[in-house]
Amino acid sequence: MVKAKKQVIIFGDMRVGKDSPNRSKRTPTVRKVKSAIVPVDRTKGPPAGRPRVETGGAAVADLGAPTAPQPTLAEQAALDRVDLSVDLAPEHGGLRLANPILVASGTFGYGIEYGEVVDVGRLGAICCKGTTLRPRAGNPPPRVTETPGGMLNSIGLQNPGVDAVIEKYGPIWQGWKVPVIVNVAGESIEDYVEVARRLDGVPGVAGIELNISCPNVGKGGLQFAIDRDAARAVTAAVRRATELPLLVKLSPNVADVRPIARAIEEAGADAISAINTLSGLAVAPDRTRAFLGNVYGGLSGPAIKPVALRIVYEVAQVVSIPIVAIGGVTSIEDVLDFLACGAVAVQVGTAIFADPELPVRLADDLRAECVRRGLDSYRPLIGTALPKRMGASSAKGAEYRP
Ligand SMILES: Cc1cc2nc3c(=O)[nH]c(=O)nc-3n(C[C@H](O)[C@H](O)[C@H](O)COP(=O)(O)O)c2cc1C
Repeated sequence: MVKAKKQVIIFGDMRVGKDSPNRSKRTPTVRKVKSAIVPVDRTKGPPAGRPRVETGGAAVADLGAPTAPQPTLAEQAALDRVDLSVDLAPEHGGLRLANPILVASGTFGYGIEYGEVVDVGRLGAICCKGTTLRPRAGNPPPRVTETPGGMLNSIGLQNPGVDAVIEKYGPIWQGWKVPVIVNVAGESIEDYVEVARRLDGVPGVAGIELNISCPNVGKGGLQFAIDRDAARAVTAAVRRATELPLLVKLSPNVADVRPIARAIEEAGADAISAINTLSGLAVAPDRTRAFLGNVYGGLSGPAIKPVALRIVYEVAQVVSIPIVAIGGVTSIEDVLDFLACGAVAVQVGTAIFADPELPVRLADDLRAECVRRGLDSYRPLIGTALPKRMGASSAKGAEYRP
């Protein structure tokens, strides 16, 4: 039995829970709400095929040992034949992944932290923690809280700065077969460009993902991601600064994301990641103030999946570069939904805190799904839910195949 309440969540070097510095006396850090993300007890074997019973939301009853049988030699051969590979940057020397299941920035540290728990070599790619030019201490606590169907975080890009990241993690990443994509954040275009320039050519760095959901300090704090011209400008400037494959991550906090996605494509991005967290707020239990130290937080987890699906669906109809979907993925059904809406790959984020092995299992599940459907590749699963007849500017996304 696993209690779904009061779980301990680890963010790199920050621990959130009973004895955490992130916990104040008056306001518990982890608020008691029914969790939609049920932690998995990995000591009892993989959950595949294991019958589970919901017991009022607070706990999940485990009815015994895993029931999934081992594949026969012939079945294993069929699984091995399925091509899950995908290239996220065909125009820029290639960013070829062995499978389309990545881990999302901020939820898997620098990959090292999970080395003991997860076979990282079986991931499609790792998007590491947001990295800035200079070290950042992050926001004041409390910095996370559970919400129905997800969580709010206001970590505030705590990180040691790009030079320390390169020095400490580069040599380790270099020895890994899994590509590491460095997630980059900044307060000005110059910041982004300088971080990209320093990452360019560093062994072990396979690509860059721009987190443009950051305030442009010189422009009154307007986020790059919500302003088409700023999104275009920062993408173009980073494109000029590096030959590395370049992903740019969309914010959902806009009325219409399509012009922004088009601008990012025109400015030379190789791929689009969608989506970052939704802006949200929680109220302190005594209701005298907002709960999070930073007031606002980013909402993630299953609650945001429909928003992410809608954005992927819209963007897939107006760009021809690959789309990497993110938002509330907890199961193979979620992966298939995002592929059907035009994504060529999927990142797993918040769900990792409850179940670190989920991304690896999802790649296995996708392989099995292809075999079940008689497919030797997952490509036919992409874009099947997009409208059959699309306007002139819409047709390209559906035609894209990895
Ligand atoms: C604790 C936490 C930290 C995050 N840090 C970053 C970050 O540094 N850069 C970034 O682009 N996205 C960051 N994100 C957003 C995730 O990468 C992802 O886009 C979002 O959580 C939605 O996916 P999910 O619902 O699967 O978690 C963070 C999310 C969480 C929960």
